[in-house]
Parts: sequence; structure tokens; C-alpha cells
Amino acid sequence: MFMRLSAFFVLLVILFSSAPAVAQVQSADAEGHQWWQRAVFYEIYPRSFADSNNDGIGDLIGITSKMSYLHELGVDAIWITPCYPSPQVDFGYDVADYENIDPMYGNLTDFDHMVAEGKKHHVRIIMDFVPNHTSDQHAWFQDSKSSRTAPHRDWYIWRDGKAPGQPPNNWISIFGGSAWKLDPATDQYYYHFFYAQQPDLNWRNPAVERVMLDTTRWWYRRGVSGFRLDAVDTLFEDPGLNDNPVLPGTNKQGDPNLQNKYNTNFPEVHTELQKLRRVADESNAVLIGETWTSNVAELDRYYGQGGNELQMPMDFMFTMVNKLSPPDFRRQVAAVESAHGWPVFVISNHDIVRSYNRYGDGKNNDAIAKLMGAFYLTLRGTPIMYYGEEIGMENNDPTRKEDVKDPIGRTGWPQEKGRDGERTPMQWNASPNAGFSKKAPWLPVPTSSQTHNVASESKDPNSVLNLYKRVLALRHTNQALLEGAYTPLHEDDANLMSYLRSYKGKAVLVVLNMSTSPQKTTFDLSPQGFGRSALKTAISSGASATGNEVTLEPFGLLIAEVSQ
Ligand code: NOJ
Ligand code: CA
Repeated sequence: MFMRLSAFFVLLVILFSSAPAVAQVQSADAEGHQWWQRAVFYEIYPRSFADSNNDGIGDLIGITSKMSYLHELGVDAIWITPCYPSPQVDFGYDVADYENIDPMYGNLTDFDHMVAEGKKHHVRIIMDFVPNHTSDQHAWFQDSKSSRTAPHRDWYIWRDGKAPGQPPNNWISIFGGSAWKLDPATDQYYYHFFYAQQPDLNWRNPAVERVMLDTTRWWYRRGVSGFRLDAVDTLFEDPGLNDNPVLPGTNKQGDPNLQNKYNTNFPEVHTELQKLRRVADESNAVLIGETWTSNVAELDRYYGQGGNELQMPMDFMFTMVNKLSPPDFRRQVAAVESAHGWPVFVISNHDIVRSYNRYGDGKNNDAIAKLMGAFYLTLRGTPIMYYGEEIGMENNDPTRKEDVKDPIGRTGWPQEKGRDGERTPMQWNASPNAGFSKKAPWLPVPTSSQTHNVASESKDPNSVLNLYKRVLALRHTNQALLEGAYTPLHEDDANLMSYLRSYKGKAVLVVLNMSTSPQKTTFDLSPQGFGRSALKTAISSGASATGNEVTLEPFGLLIAEVSQ
């Protein structure tokens, strides 16, 4: 009997010590949804979120100090853009050491403290992983360029020129100029899809793959809940170095337009994503993809066969619907709904003009910001917010070339002003520098920070911030929003975007007036099994419901609960 009992306990220990498996079982809900499907993600640009030591640059202690704010807002996970040691040519996307923190942001102790505080506030930490390239200051590249026979030579992509003074082929860097840079010391060119200070790693070298997979494991052990993977489509290049097809016209940097046929989207990318995913699964972690795709078939491939690649490839086609057009949005949502994975919606990030400006008409910007928030936070899928979006932060583009910090804004001026405008400091209050720092911040805050800031908006029940908070609170508790199917309604309507999220006899109706004129409409939800039941308003702004009739002011929004 004693023997049998002890064997039973041994079995229990074995079962419960397999932590990742247990965690996975615990984190799935009745519908089999994982933690990242119920979570709301929030992107933080660390230079610009909160500056704890008043040097004008945000830092990890600053982020940690805002955990209660994030939790009360309704954020479950923060994705921090790269905060590793870096010369900051591309503001962190040029990594000089993958397993440390840049001193300007703090150190690993600050990082561990941030993870711990995050845990206390139910906010997970997602790091940004930059697999395609390192900084030219990374020790690997320094060794690589030291001689043709250096141990790390083959960690990067080195080739002879086509002829004296001519790069190996016609590939263009997305940031301007040839994608090849001559290293006079070894008389070979190295390849860089982005800046010359960001040499591409050679993923065909197994040593590169090994060290990169291990790096993700190292961060998971430190408490990271996942990664946002940078520029995944650029991991592999044609070993034959074929020239890319030339298209008509030139881009904002004045380079010829090329089809990136031979340096992006290689099938090998998917093999590597599967390997990264296997490592992520050891820790119940999530992989988010920076997946710029031109159609849903391409996006779909990133989920992998049977879901063995990225859990969360971002749908950037949604951000490319740059007008308040219900038919265009309906088409895009339907397309993503048809994919074989969980949708991921974003409306802004650190590389694109803020949604406040892209959708705003200059007169009704706040109403439109609320409308867009009510929209993408109620779709089926996981939203990734961009810091400041919840207070209606706007772009603050430089007006003079000499003020530009982002190199592409200097090389492409004035056609390309760079990305400074969407990266300005978070607006915490109406004090100088918007409460971000006591010192002049690295980028200036716009005058609109006087009205659009956390402190002022917290007091105003009609603010963009309070609308976001209400929608996020509903989204966390309402089963139809968490689990429900998406059904588009009034599909011929050019002004209203309407849809139902329904789950087990309960539903949420969302009606968004994307036009400048008042709208009135009725909803017969019998085909969806809800009869002509009365709408119970949960959240509204410039809209009301009586029975099953909805009246909306220009850009009004209504979120109503419906039951059988
Ligand atoms: C995409 C990042 O979002 C962007 O900011 C960066 O410049 C490039 N990848 C290069 O890493
Ligand atoms: Ca600082």
C-alpha cells in the first residue's frame, strides 16, 4: 500500500512539474482560447513612454511606474520595441547585444523588476525580436568584417562585386540606396535590407539559427511572455543573387521601384518560424509577426500548417484602409475572417502615421478616434493598441529637416519626413513636456498635449480615454466579445459599419456611423436568432437606441447587448 501511494505521488510530481504543459491547459478557456486570444496588447516605444531619470529619454523604470495605469486601462500585455544595447541608428532596431538592456533604458535588474511588477498588475511583457539583422557594432559583425576567414564571416552575407566598383546586384535597401555596402578592408560587399548599419544575418548558417533560437529561450526564462518578430519576410535571400525586377517609377528615397522578388518571402522563412514556435511553446509564449502582406493568402501562410507558426500575424492590410469606408472595412474583415487563424488588428504603430491623423477629418477627430477604438476593439480577434492612441495622440511631424531624428526622414526629405511624428512622448498631463520628463524630451510634444493627456481626459467622461476604458472593460467581461462569431450586418450600407458578435444566445451589436451625416436604421436580428429583441445600450457616443432602432450623429457609435 505504501509503495503504491508513493508511486502515485511520484506520478503527481512528474505531471505537475511539466510546467509549460500545465500552464497551457490552465490558460485555455471553454472555447479552447489561449491567454493571448483574450488579452489586449499595447505597444510601447520605450524612448517615449515615461522618463524616470529626466534625461529626456524614456526608460524601463518609467514603464514600470505606469503598470497601474496600464492595468486600469485594460491592457494585459505590453510589447516593448527593442530596448537592447544599440547605437540607436534605427532607434533600437540595430541590436548590438541580444541579451542585455541598453544603459539608456536601464539594466537587467530593472528589467526583472518590470516583469515582477507587471505580474502583480497582470501585465505580461512581450519583447521585440530582430532576427533579420544586427547592428554593425555587434561583436559578431565586428568579427565578421575583420577578415575573410574570421569565425563569424559567414554569419552575414558577403559577396564580391559584379565588377570593380559595382555591387553584386540591383537590390535596393528599403531605407534608400543600394542594399550592398563595400568593406574596403576585405574588398567584399555585405548585404543590408535596412540601413547600412544593420547588416543582414545569414540564416542559412546553422550557427546563426542556433544562437537566435537560444536567445528567445533565454528571454522566456527571464519571464517574457512572447515576442513580436521584426521584418520576418526578409530573413532569406536568393543565394543566386538574381536581380530584382524593375517596376515603373521611383520611391520616396528617389530609388527605382523594384519588386523584392529575390530578397523577401522565401519559403525558408516558414521553416524558421516553425522552429521559433517550438521554442515558444516550451513556455506557453506567443509570437506576433510584423507581417506586411498584400493579400490574405500570404497572411494565412504565417499561421502555418495546423497553426504551427505565428499565433498572431498582424493584419496590416487593415491599416491600409485609410478612409472611413464601411465597404472597404467589411471586405478586409471578411477576408481576415476567412483565414485559418486568429485575427490580429492594429490601427497604428511606430512606423505609420497615427490613426488620429489618418482617419481624422480635422473637425471631428475625437469622435472619429472613439469610433475607431470602438471598432477594432470589438472585432473578433486580438487588438494591439499603440501607446497614446487611447488619448487621441496625434502625429507631430518635424517641419524642418534639421530637426529630423529618423535617418529616412533626412535622406528622403521632404517627400519622406521619417517616423518621428508618430513616436513623440506619451502625454501624461498638461505640464511642460506633457509630464513625460522634466527635461526637454528627445522629440517635442505637440501643443494638443494641453488637452489630450491622461490627467485631463481621466476627468472628462466624454474623452477618448474614457471611451477606450469602457470598451476595454466590456471586452474583458462580455463573452460575446471574447468568444463570439462575427456577422456583418446591413452589408450594402455605405455609411454604417454594423456587425454582431454572438455567442451562446447572447450577442453584442456594434453600429458605427462612418459618415458626416446623421443616420437612422433598424435591426431585425431574426436571421441571427435574436428576433426583434430590444437593444440594450452598453456604450454609446453620439448615438441612441430605442427598441431595435438606432439613431446616430455623424461619427456616432453604439455598442448594444442583445439576448434571445
Ligand atoms: C520594422 C520596424 O518596425 C521598424 O521600425 C524598423 O526600422 C525595421 N523593421 C528594421 O528593423
Ligand atoms: Ca531616462
